[in-house]
Amino acid sequence: MSLKYNILIIGSGAREHAFAWKIKQSSRVNNLFVAPGNAGTSEIAENIQLSVNDFEAIKTAVLKNDINMVLVGPEDPIVNGITDFFENDIKLKDVLIIAPNKSGARLEGSKSFSKQFMVKYNIPTAKYHIVTEHNLEEGIAFLSSFNPPYVLKADGLASGKGVLIINDREEAINSLKEILNGKFGKAGNTVVIEQFMEGIEMSTFVLTDGINYVLLPEAKDYKRIGEGDTGLNTGGMGAVSPVPFLTPELQKKIDTLVIHRTIHGLRAENINFKGFIFIGLMISNGNPFVIEYNIRMGDPETEVVIPRIENDFVDLLEATALHKLNQQQIKIKKEAFATIIAASKGYPEHFEKDKIITGLNNKTNSLVFHSGTTLKNEHIVTNGGRVLAVSSSGKNITEAVKTSVETLNNISFDGIYFRKDIGYEFK
Ligand code: AMP
Ligand code: GLY
Repeated sequence: MSLKYNILIIGSGAREHAFAWKIKQSSRVNNLFVAPGNAGTSEIAENIQLSVNDFEAIKTAVLKNDINMVLVGPEDPIVNGITDFFENDIKLKDVLIIAPNKSGARLEGSKSFSKQFMVKYNIPTAKYHIVTEHNLEEGIAFLSSFNPPYVLKADGLASGKGVLIINDREEAINSLKEILNGKFGKAGNTVVIEQFMEGIEMSTFVLTDGINYVLLPEAKDYKRIGEGDTGLNTGGMGAVSPVPFLTPELQKKIDTLVIHRTIHGLRAENINFKGFIFIGLMISNGNPFVIEYNIRMGDPETEVVIPRIENDFVDLLEATALHKLNQQQIKIKKEAFATIIAASKGYPEHFEKDKIITGLNNKTNSLVFHSGTTLKNEHIVTNGGRVLAVSSSGKNITEAVKTSVETLNNISFDGIYFRKDIGYEFK
């Protein structure tokens, strides 16, 4: 008999709802908790109200509920050291935690660290220069050494807002100074200036125990608010998997040039990395270049990646924590998946909350994952900019998108907005 787990998922988005949905299908889960969760997770697990960065509150919840496995969704608690906190606590050290420690979290938490890592291990990426207030002149000279557009990245976490792409050199120099002067707070004390890469973006995901890894399904997300990829950047308005332009030849290049070298680099740096690596790639002339590493799964990417995985998810998580991923073989569904985000009117800028959502109990051919929702007076109401992620399968992406649009046409709340053109390039 294999061990059963009481599992806690940290986070409150559609990514965490998708994790909960998948874990719930395992015969190896006893009690499932999500902290803080949302209205959707409360239907399949027990929500625990706490802040994801309040490690003492998490410890109390873990001990009270005999939790012996923790899966961390968002980057914040990971970069803040939740794994180190568990490993250094006598009462928590035997709890399996699926998230890298602070050392591994630098891949996302410090863009200068991750660029230096890529260069050291010969992982293809854009040319760059690291600038602080002490070498501003070097930064300006670097900006003058190539043609626009210019890419400026605040070194630390800046809630997804720390990347600027600027066409004018003078404006780039001004923005560089503004970031160094605190535009993004401490995250911008160091700035990475990068050359702009032309191409098409996709993301690859691995689950690693630090030595072995399994390759998860790839995905492509749609970051802009408007159809045809126009308007402001968001956390993501939809995603598809598989990515039709990923040929076996390109996959081979991604494996050898990016993934093997990344895992090798982590080992060579003595980083005991247990968790997900989400690698944002630019494909230029058929070759992969790393845009960024994230040390967690993506949202909304998770909502198409997770439904394509056939394995028992608890088996995969346990093997990650126990350095046994070499004993796991990943099985992926052939079907295509698409997810469409239903957002609040005004997102990603100002939006209102507390709008009653109707139609959630309709019969549907989709998976309706909750993102920003909560329960109020026995109604499910909106509680964020991104409200739902509606995932569907199909024999191709067009079919999958069609099903999600049909499902969304039967769900409503005041100001609901979603893109109907997710996957438009693959028609
Ligand atoms: P990030 O916040 O690091 O995900 O970056 C946001 C977006 O900026 C990426 O998804 C890319 O579309 C774009 N980006 C970042 N770095 C580069 C680069 N060097 N060349 C072209 N586009 C980039
Ligand atoms: N969808 C992008 C992210 O999760 O960072």
